[in-house]
Amino acid sequence: MSLRAPDETTPLSQLFSLEGRVCLVTGGNRGIGFAVCQGYAEAGAAGIAIIHSSEATAELANERALEIEKQYPRTKVRAYKADVANAKEIEDVTKRVFADFGRLDIVVANAGVYTETPALDMLPEEAQYVTGVNYFGPLYTAQAAASIARRKQPSAI
Ligand SMILES: NC(=O)c1ccc[n+]([C@@H]2O[C@H](COP(=O)([O-])OP(=O)(O)OC[C@H]3O[C@@H](n4cnc5c(N)ncnc54)[C@H](OP(=O)(O)O)[C@@H]3O)[C@@H](O)[C@H]2O)c1
Repeated sequence: MSLRAPDETTPLSQLFSLEGRVCLVTGGNRGIGFAVCQGYAEAGAAGIAIIHSSEATAELANERALEIEKQYPRTKVRAYKADVANAKEIEDVTKRVFADFGRLDIVVANAGVYTETPALDMLPEEAQYVTGVNYFGPLYTAQAAASIARRKQPSAI
């Protein structure tokens, strides 16, 4: 992260520009994650990898990728399947994204699940599923990103 004060004459669009940057967003196929992907494309990102959870959501993820590319033709968008609760899956897919796009600058650990089951009624299987996605998911995603970032300078997680 730069601690330099920005030149006051620099236009905002340039300060927040993501030109040339490649971004990976878990859960980028819908909700907040999709809005993040759209925002990154609007900011000029060169590439966006949308990570979705399963085969069941592959079609939606591909549609969303095309939708962004249509609106922002300078941005290449691809969909990838990985369960963030599975350390190997998210590590492998992060490496694939790096190989496919040639770089990786921003990783957003957005994927998450919500349950309405009261804590007292939650069975161990559901508790493990929710913590697997919401707790271990961001950890595994950050680990996968860090294993790539630490090979490059400068980088930040
Ligand atoms: N919306 C809110 O008010 C709110 C408030 C506080 C925090 N949050 C957090 O913000 C994040 C996004 O919220 P949202 O409302 O946009 O959620 P959402 O619409 O329910 O979308 C969740 C996203 O996470 C993905 N995902 C779920 N489990 C996954 C897994 N095991 N592996 C990979 N991807 C997985 C889903 O992919 P698939 O569609 O492929 O399953 C989907 O893209 C979540 O972490 C949520 O907990 C949301």
